[in-house]
Amino acid sequence: MSTLKSRVNMHLLGKRAPPYHRLPSGARMFFYVLITIATCSVACLYLKWLRVKSYWADRGVPYQPPNPILGSLTFLQRQNPGLWLRQLYNFKSPYVGMWLLWRPGLVINSPEIARRILVKDFGNFRNRYLSSGQSDPIGGLNLFTVNDPIWSSMRNRLSSVFTSAKLRILQDYVGLKAKELAQRIHNDKDNPINLKVTYVDFTTDVIGTSAFGVESNSTLTGKGSMREITHDFGKFGIMRGLSWCSIFFFPDFVDYFRFTFFPKESEDYLKRVFRMIVKNREENATDQKESKDLLDALIKIKKEKIENNEAVSDDLLIAQAAIFLLGGFETSGSVLSFITYEMAFNPELQVNTIKEGLRKYSPMGWLDRIAMMDYQIDDKVTIKAGTPVYVNSIGMHYDPDYFPDPEKFEPDRFLPQNEKDTKPYTYMPFGHGPRICIGQRFAQMTVRYALSSVFLNFKVYPVPNMPKPSDVKIDNRCLLYLAGEPLLVKFVPRH
Ligand code: HEM
Repeated sequence: MSTLKSRVNMHLLGKRAPPYHRLPSGARMFFYVLITIATCSVACLYLKWLRVKSYWADRGVPYQPPNPILGSLTFLQRQNPGLWLRQLYNFKSPYVGMWLLWRPGLVINSPEIARRILVKDFGNFRNRYLSSGQSDPIGGLNLFTVNDPIWSSMRNRLSSVFTSAKLRILQDYVGLKAKELAQRIHNDKDNPINLKVTYVDFTTDVIGTSAFGVESNSTLTGKGSMREITHDFGKFGIMRGLSWCSIFFFPDFVDYFRFTFFPKESEDYLKRVFRMIVKNREENATDQKESKDLLDALIKIKKEKIENNEAVSDDLLIAQAAIFLLGGFETSGSVLSFITYEMAFNPELQVNTIKEGLRKYSPMGWLDRIAMMDYQIDDKVTIKAGTPVYVNSIGMHYDPDYFPDPEKFEPDRFLPQNEKDTKPYTYMPFGHGPRICIGQRFAQMTVRYALSSVFLNFKVYPVPNMPKPSDVKIDNRCLLYLAGEPLLVKFVPRH
């Protein structure tokens, strides 16, 4: 009745009734129900948000206030995660609360807690939070992204790929490429040389050939199929940026949006090459006991699995070769570039600078784990099962209590008489514990060969108007801690 009255009033006033008043009563009912549901949902969401927002405050953990949608992830694609973590370290607290969207996570700044998570209580932290989902086998089955039980069995088998004996076999090849690197610099010596590009040409050959068994000549030519792949890996457009952010920080969305760890075309190429070379080696197999490269070792794993009647897919093996390439080319290339750049500005430095290079320019400045069960961090704080934790290794690398004057490139910190004073679990460029970087020794060998070859043959000088090493911009779009601008230097032959 009152509705009718108000409609009449509106009519008399020359106003039109609101649209829902003109609906038939069933539809009007539906409309009201819809409004009620929407209002209740918004209220529930708001209450949930209040709980999310107060999560760390309720537990007495310091935190940076979260954004209502992204949580703490507002830095993504705007600031490099390594720089963001260095800021969180300034809280001067053993841990800092954060949110991955609405999921609480904890950043660990304390070496003692890091030791417990990475080593002592590894059983509870054997998995990473990041995940490449189920829909992308090459991205999801590799050693970096895969979790238990596949991780334990793959890690055991793959450890044999990087033994001293296997690395000695690879040494000759790395040495040959290091000579080519000096040759390449010699050819280009009249112009400033772009370190990132030159070194990635070199690491692409070294790791691409070792892992896929395919000849690559980019050290000398700057070109080739493998180099096109690493070029694609290094490109961070909107889609790839989004894929990686999701894989690392909001993996629940990966399958939904079909994000992939590797660019699709590169993955297809790597699959083709892998299958072709493996077929070729299997057909021409001799009785050789020793594998001559990483690919041989992968083929051996396949054979052993078949002999033991265990399931083995090509994807599982391709995934490992692909992660060796991705895990190795840019990390090693970046450390080489920064060390050489520092040496251009500090000519008195010795070549023995690798450890300091890895401290100041750790390509991966955080160690990602997830708690499998509730875990007591200390007397005050217990984290729930499923909470992601990030050990803030780059934060510790820049802590003046552990590394005085941290912005200074100071290789003497790592002289044997000084290194013994380094507090345990404050220096972790390759991580720590059973999930430590499997390629650590291969990477160290690659970097050592390259630097020796370059500095035996050349002196290096800065190019006018280039930024000082500590002023170099860091790439904000990539998740690794890489230079965000070209690093140009001038090489002058020693003889
Ligand atoms: C300077 C070069 C490199 C640096 C700084 C580096 C750093 C790291 C770090 C910090 C981790 C995580 C460790 C952890 O969570 O405790 C890691 C894992 C890994 N890295 Fe490297 N890496 C380098 C080169 C390489 C190379 C050359 C390869 C392969 C040939 C490689 C393959 C891997 C793999 C497969 C993992 C995952 C290991 C696992 O979860 O079991 N990395 N790396």
